[in-house]
This record gives sequence, C-alpha cells and structure tokens, in this order.
Amino acid sequence: MINVGKESRGKFVTFEGIDASGKSVQAKLLYQRLQNNGVDSVLLRDPGATRISERVRDILLDNAHEEMSPWAELLLYEAARAQMVEETIFPALADGKVVICDRFYDSTTAYQGYGRSLDLNLVKQANTIGSIGLVPDLTFLIDLDPHVAIERMKKSNRANDRMESAGIELQKRVFDGYRKVAALEPERFSVISGDQEIKVIEKIIWNIFKNKFEWFFSLATGKEDR
Ligand SMILES: Nc1ncnc2c1ncn2[C@@H]1O[C@H](COP(=O)(O)OP(=O)(O)OP(=O)(O)O)[C@@H](O)[C@H]1O
Ligand SMILES: [Mg+2]
Repeated sequence: MINVGKESRGKFVTFEGIDASGKSVQAKLLYQRLQNNGVDSVLLRDPGATRISERVRDILLDNAHEEMSPWAELLLYEAARAQMVEETIFPALADGKVVICDRFYDSTTAYQGYGRSLDLNLVKQANTIGSIGLVPDLTFLIDLDPHVAIERMKKSNRANDRMESAGIELQKRVFDGYRKVAALEPERFSVISGDQEIKVIEKIIWNIFKNKFEWFFSLATGKEDR
C-alpha cells in the first residue's frame, strides 16, 4: 500500500447526514475505491473506532438510558471523539493516510445543538475540545428528507437505537440544522442529494474527492484511477 509519506499530512474526510441518509454505505464505498487505487486509508465511525470510544458509544445508544441529560450526552460524544482523534486519527494523518470518518463534530452541532436545542456556542466550544482542534478537510453532507429516511429505516427492519427513537420532529430539526451548518462553511462542505441511486452518489463523491485533492491523489497513486 502506498502513502504520500510523513512529510505531508494525510486528508481527513467526514460523512454527515440524518439517520439512514446513506452515510455508512457511501463511506465504505469511498474507502473501497481508495483501497482499489492504492491509496492508504482508514475507515472509522464516530462515536467509536477505539476500545474506549466503542464503550462510550454503547452508553450513548442504549435505549435503557432514558434519563440521560442532553449535557451528559454532549460530553460523552466529545469524550469518545477525543479518544479517537488522539489514538487513531492524528497518527493516521501524520502517516499521510486518508482518514474517512462516518460522522464527526457536525453531527454534534446538528443533533445536540439544533436537535436537542442546546446553546450553539457551548456546543461549538465542546466540539473544539472533543476534536482537539481538528477540522475535516472535506465533509460530505448527504441531504435526505426525514420522511424518506424513515421509510428506509422501516424497510431495513433494524431495531432503533436511543437517538433514532427520538422521532420525526427531532430528525426534522437535525435535517434543518445540517443545512445551516453546511451553508456556514461552503468551502468544506459538499452537499449531495441522498435521494439518488447508491451508485450515482458514489460517483459524485469520488469525483469531488479527486478534484479537491488532485495533487494528493496523483502523488498517492501515481497512476490512472480504477
Ligand atoms: N441512495 C440510496 N437509495 C436507497 N437506499 C439507500 C441508499 N443509500 C443507503 N440506502 C439504504 O438505506 C439504509 C440506511 O443506509 P446507511 O446505513 O448507509 O445510512 P446511515 O446514514 O449510515 O444511517 P445511520 O445514521 O442510522 O447509521 C440501508 O438499508 C441502505 O442500504
Ligand atoms: Mg451509519
């Protein structure tokens, strides 16, 4: 596997969007594409990716934890994130890898800020701590109407976790929140309609990735893309 070497930092790419918008499917497809092209990359999920963060994830998503304070929820997400950034992301970026993360701090702004109506300034401060100041180089927002997303969830027959059980009203606030967040940082965000075929979205994402990181990509692969 080739990577661009220690002198140049890798690239940090995140996937955002409401529940069942297609983040995990697309994150995995981008990861596979990069692997096929010989670009050294890692695929992570937030919260998760490390032993400690996965344990915090279990606490966060447990349906039995009805009494969880939204502030405790916020800080648990940040704690899981800080562990992942320090233990996994920083070393991978220093190694010149492409780090793909399924959700990152924009999820916290959308869910805990817009969704749970916590003070946006405090959420922002918490995000800075939880990400240890790390900002994604590129963020894909998969934009999907909450009603369409709920139909998908029903179809996939998966049991709802604590966040998903919070209902359509929360999902709508989160959806609007994501759009606001993306509008504030148009340089970092690529907003893609999630209401298209998986393969179509995959192609759009791949083209955006290649265009944005052209020099990096040619350095990393040294050949035509596959
Ligand atoms: N473009 C698409 N068209 C139709 N169905 C899709 C599309 N993308 C994903 N799906 C399906 O929708 C469901 C949710 O997709 P996925 O797990 O990728 O969403 P997610 O955003 O990661 O959700 P979560 O936030 O719950 O983890 C899956 O069953 C998946 O196969
Ligand atoms: Mg997912």
